[in-house]
Amino acid sequence: MRILITGSNGLLGQKITDLCMQKSISFLATSKGDNRYSKISDAEYRPMDIAIREEIESVVAEFKPTVIINTAAITNVDYCEDHKELCDLINVEAVRNLLHVAEKNNIHLIHLSTDFVFDGEKGPYKETDERNPLSYYGLSKVKSEDLLLNSAYKNWAIVRTIIVFGIAENMSRSNIVLWAKSALEEGQPMTIVDDQFRAPTFAEDLAWACVRIGELNARGIYHISGPDTFSIIELVQKVADYWGLDKSTLKTVSSSSLNQAAKRPPKTGFILDKARMDLGYDPGTFEESLDKLSSQLKKN
Ligand SMILES: NC(=O)c1ccc[n+]([C@@H]2O[C@H](COP(=O)([O-])OP(=O)(O)OC[C@H]3O[C@@H](n4cnc5c(N)ncnc54)[C@H](OP(=O)(O)O)[C@@H]3O)[C@@H](O)[C@H]2O)c1
Repeated sequence: MRILITGSNGLLGQKITDLCMQKSISFLATSKGDNRYSKISDAEYRPMDIAIREEIESVVAEFKPTVIINTAAITNVDYCEDHKELCDLINVEAVRNLLHVAEKNNIHLIHLSTDFVFDGEKGPYKETDERNPLSYYGLSKVKSEDLLLNSAYKNWAIVRTIIVFGIAENMSRSNIVLWAKSALEEGQPMTIVDDQFRAPTFAEDLAWACVRIGELNARGIYHISGPDTFSIIELVQKVADYWGLDKSTLKTVSSSSLNQAAKRPPKTGFILDKARMDLGYDPGTFEESLDKLSSQLKKN
């Protein structure tokens, strides 16, 4: 197996890179612009903008991957709401490019999607549940999924996931666990919603599932998240409890009071039966993942 990783500067991209190194899987890391992950050597990295088909074609001709894992995306939900054209370009048209190149070279395309394809009225969701996105980001991912679902080419997998957390280097954005930990440590006042429910996903578990899907040449849709679903306020309280931090700065609010550009689904969470059965996916509990994160932080 030879894995081409897109978006390797991002959180998931770095974790897949780590796993390829640990498992001695041949890989090429690519992202837009320069490499920002210190573990990757010059030989293991190429700048590649997935919005430019010729760049993908040239990297694929050089590296000859058997698998492409597409982690690259515009992942900021409110930014997508305000920048719909750019969101379409990277989250939809670029996936069309990847699918085209994958089909031409018979490459297994593994594409990342989101719980935001659902409206959150009846989570937890299974892979076959009906999609009804509330945000432009969610809609862009639905459109990208449709490219694969409606293609005659079937050598692909869609991996949907939910708020991903973990540590990575030089990230362009943080994630809820690290953000909550540092805000709580600094005693900053925080307003947190109590009417949105999610299953937080440890980045290492998600990376494991993506690589496993490649190893098995698994096809179709997979739901990959942490095993436990709770409200965002409970999530932040758990972070506080884990590191023994003061919770008096936390104020609970409803989603409607936040005035965010994009609407969020109230309750997602995933049914993981298919991933457990097909892949042997067995994610740690939230606390077990915090244990791992905590020891990573100590090493840094
Ligand atoms: N994180 C979550 O909570 C979450 C939840 C559900 C689904 N997902 C999906 O999971 C995937 C991975 O998420 P993540 O957390 O690893 O995201 P991330 O940390 O934001 O990483 C995405 C990476 O893609 C790169 N990128 C953006 N445009 C690109 C382009 N045109 N060509 C090549 N690379 C480009 C970004 O570069 P820069 O760093 O330079 O901007 C970034 O490094 C995404 O598809 C996301 O939609 C994530």
